[in-house]
Amino acid sequence: MTLGTWTDLIYLLAATGFILALKGLSNPKGARVGNLVGAAAATVAIAFTFTNHAVRAHTLNLVLMLVAMVIGAAIAVPAARLVKMTAMPQMVAIFNGVGGGAAALVSIVVFLIEAPGSPAVYRIAEVLFGVLVGCVSFSGSAIAFAKLQELMTGRPITYPGQQAINALVGLAILGLAVATLVTGNTALLVVLAVLSLVLGVIFVLPIGGADVPVLISLLNSFTGLAVAASGFTLNSNLLIIAGTLVGASGILLTRMMSQAMGRSLPNILFSAFGSVVTAAGGADGTGADARPVRSGAPEDIGVLLAYARKVVIVPGYGLAVAQAQHTARELADALGERGVEVFYAIHPVAGRMPGHMNVLLAEANVPYDQLKEMDEANPEMSTADVALVVGANDTVNPAAKNSPGSPIYGMPIVNADQAEHVIFLKRSMRPGFAGIDNELLYDPKTTLLFGDAKDTLTKLVAAVNAS
Ligand code: TAP
Repeated sequence: MTLGTWTDLIYLLAATGFILALKGLSNPKGARVGNLVGAAAATVAIAFTFTNHAVRAHTLNLVLMLVAMVIGAAIAVPAARLVKMTAMPQMVAIFNGVGGGAAALVSIVVFLIEAPGSPAVYRIAEVLFGVLVGCVSFSGSAIAFAKLQELMTGRPITYPGQQAINALVGLAILGLAVATLVTGNTALLVVLAVLSLVLGVIFVLPIGGADVPVLISLLNSFTGLAVAASGFTLNSNLLIIAGTLVGASGILLTRMMSQAMGRSLPNILFSAFGSVVTAAGGADGTGADARPVRSGAPEDIGVLLAYARKVVIVPGYGLAVAQAQHTARELADALGERGVEVFYAIHPVAGRMPGHMNVLLAEANVPYDQLKEMDEANPEMSTADVALVVGANDTVNPAAKNSPGSPIYGMPIVNADQAEHVIFLKRSMRPGFAGIDNELLYDPKTTLLFGDAKDTLTKLVAAVNAS
């Protein structure tokens, strides 16, 4: 067998690895192994790229590639190791953005090499697609990063005639694409690339608040498509497969997230959700309308938990902020030792990214059989003595079921309100990500325990053990 055949076989193996990785990543149990399989497949694929004749023939390119890889790894490895779980969405955004930018650059370079020889129309079309989608993904992801990192306002930015301006830029890009196809002119391609960068920015500006993670998933899918396009340009089957997998899984994830939030994708992309939302809780946490709520002492709540039959822990973004996953497990263990049935009800968009809660709780070695997805947990909520809501808010807000005017109306929720008692662990009366008040906080069966979730959970563990 020739080296080329070996490389093709290895690429096929790597592509199979990517598919198995996705399969593993689709559930908490297989996620770790899936991640490792995907990383191993990528490593093998990168290593065998150096057997490629075109790569080996250009010593300078070889050296440049190695230098770029070392620089990239020196930035990415510490960033990935040090990033806080709550900052994962913006890290995904920036990694995704550079992927899209790289795919666009590859397409541009191929065009520059082939342009003097009047390339076939289909070759130019591949390049145009890669440049357009890659540039939109790059600049769009950069703005999404800035929003999530609070380098700029996270709220939707709107201005008069916004949709018309976006449409005009889109039409201009279309016109440039046709002109480039016909003429093969390099200058036109460069203008198209610049306008595509502008489109990425203005497309993302009006999307804000709770919708940004959905947007990132969509941009992720765009990057996949741009990579697949550069795979066609470079005649690389592996890039075509890998890019298509990212594109398809990104769009499926986007759809699942939209469904879990009870919204359609066009509504998320074009309705500037969050710009009209007013928070009922004051920034100081006192509650703007100062309605009475019942707050409790850890000792009393500890007794309630210790003598319950069934306790459902409902984790949310605040659990991630407080890094309280280990303490939550300690509390569940303490209750379990007393014979209390405990499980966790996981909302699909609890936290700030898909699978956020599953990842955190798996890290704390919570047994998988205690993790119940929302649909599995909800039929049991009415038989629970206590719903212990740890740093969650929107995902248990009954307004999603009862208030047709609410921005979260239609979002499925964990039915914490059906439990006999509801305990909220949060620091103040501030609202959740959607910025809206939660009636459940004022319900007579609700007790609030104010404080950082890790501290309050620690106090509850002590109280349960003392009961
Ligand atoms: P949120 O509704 O954002 O509520 C989190 C609560 O945690 C807040 O009320 C906050 O209140 C509390 N909190 C924050 N830090 C805390 C700490 N250190 N200790 C204790 N409590 C703390 O969270 P959720 O219920 O998980 O809902 C997620 C939201 O994100 C939804 O609106 C969802 O649509 C959106 N979203 C999620 C995703 C994915 S994929 N997960 C994607 C897009 C959008 P205090 O400030 O008073 O403590």
